[in-house]
Amino acid sequence: TVRTITALRGHVLQFSGDPFCDNPAEALTDWPDGLIITENGKITAIGDAVELLKTLPSDAVLYDHSGKFILPGFIDCHVHYPQTEIIASYGAQLIEWLNTYTFPAEAKFGDIEYARRAADVYLQQSFANGITSASVYCTIHPESVDALFEQAARYNMRIAAGKVMMDRNAPANLRDTAQSGYDQSKALLEKWHGQGRALYSITPRFAPTSTPEQMEATGALWKEHPEALVQTHTSENRQELEWVGELYPEHPDYVGVYEHYGLLGKGCVLGHGIYLNDREKAVLHETGTSIAHCPTSNTFIGSGLFDVRGSHFTHQPIRVGLATDVGGGSSFSILTTMRTAYEIAQLQGYSLHPVQAYYLATVGSAKTLYQEDRIGNIKVGMEADFAVIDPLSTPLIRHRMGYANSLIDQLFIQMILGDDRAIAATYVDGKRVYSQA
Ligand code: GUN
Ligand code: ZN
Repeated sequence: TVRTITALRGHVLQFSGDPFCDNPAEALTDWPDGLIITENGKITAIGDAVELLKTLPSDAVLYDHSGKFILPGFIDCHVHYPQTEIIASYGAQLIEWLNTYTFPAEAKFGDIEYARRAADVYLQQSFANGITSASVYCTIHPESVDALFEQAARYNMRIAAGKVMMDRNAPANLRDTAQSGYDQSKALLEKWHGQGRALYSITPRFAPTSTPEQMEATGALWKEHPEALVQTHTSENRQELEWVGELYPEHPDYVGVYEHYGLLGKGCVLGHGIYLNDREKAVLHETGTSIAHCPTSNTFIGSGLFDVRGSHFTHQPIRVGLATDVGGGSSFSILTTMRTAYEIAQLQGYSLHPVQAYYLATVGSAKTLYQEDRIGNIKVGMEADFAVIDPLSTPLIRHRMGYANSLIDQLFIQMILGDDRAIAATYVDGKRVYSQA
């Protein structure tokens, strides 16, 4: 195979530590005029551009983003691609929102052509927002899973996805059974997991839409395929919590249901986790289970305020990543998602430091998927996925940036005022997949 060498020049940012500490700014390392060299989709060198350029082979393709920030590609660790068409749907909280908007939309994804077009729209939206990896819910239909993995394979994207399983409390045309959900998931897992950079995520929607039999089958599947991931929802909404208590009266709490069926562990990502009790938090810590923080969803469908500080500054920390949760979430922009995470922290009386916010969307999300050795940071040996931020993307941002007095200040301005207009380019597997100009 031919060797493909790409290099990016710009203001390179790297996480050299964990910013959930007393001095978050120290977790960031930067090269104001930096160069990243990549070969066949992996980072081979990082350093000052003037020096490194001397070593660049003549067949390399050089992308000059001087004056712009080069960050690790953003990782959306919880999103529903079939819900792209119902983003911004009015006036309902979780259960009513699912029944009114979500289920009718998801019912269309048995048509693989429809699903392919929707998957493409979804991927283009992600790239236009600097998202280079995601953990994605498909629908009950195996076609919806094939469609997404096929489209993502065109970019050799590190994507995790899975077929939603539901065998109760959903419309008849959106139900599988404990057996068919297991069989279809297993076949898809064996077909896609490890194909290129694809990862399969076993995806029971949430405890209320699965019978105990389906939960059992799901746990059995993960036991047979521990290399796969698991994703589901937990403790998002008060009415949902009550419902789980009625449906599963024999378990101590919501997380206790997943615990009972062997669904917790390294590689399991639970969406939301807003109302966890101390026992649940301890179990997540002990099992290495992660949480996807979905700020714009939690405000948009009125679910509540996730305590991001509480999951880090404790003797029992939990891995947390950042997620759009479209279409419950109201934006594909990770910058907007960070802004909402900041606002949610403010409403609880503390501030989310910008380095912590960017970390959650990169290293943090990678850690939820146990992929932090491969994605989410800019280090030699890691995969070549990048987001490039134009720090002067709007008149207001240009004006405000004139008064910024530090790199941290500049990054904060981007996450508060920036959106898709700030994403200058996106690279996946060392190749440009999006560019504004
Ligand atoms: N809980 C179960 N399904 C869903 C979903 O599609 N979106 C959100 N936000 N929560 C859920
Ligand atoms: Zn969700």
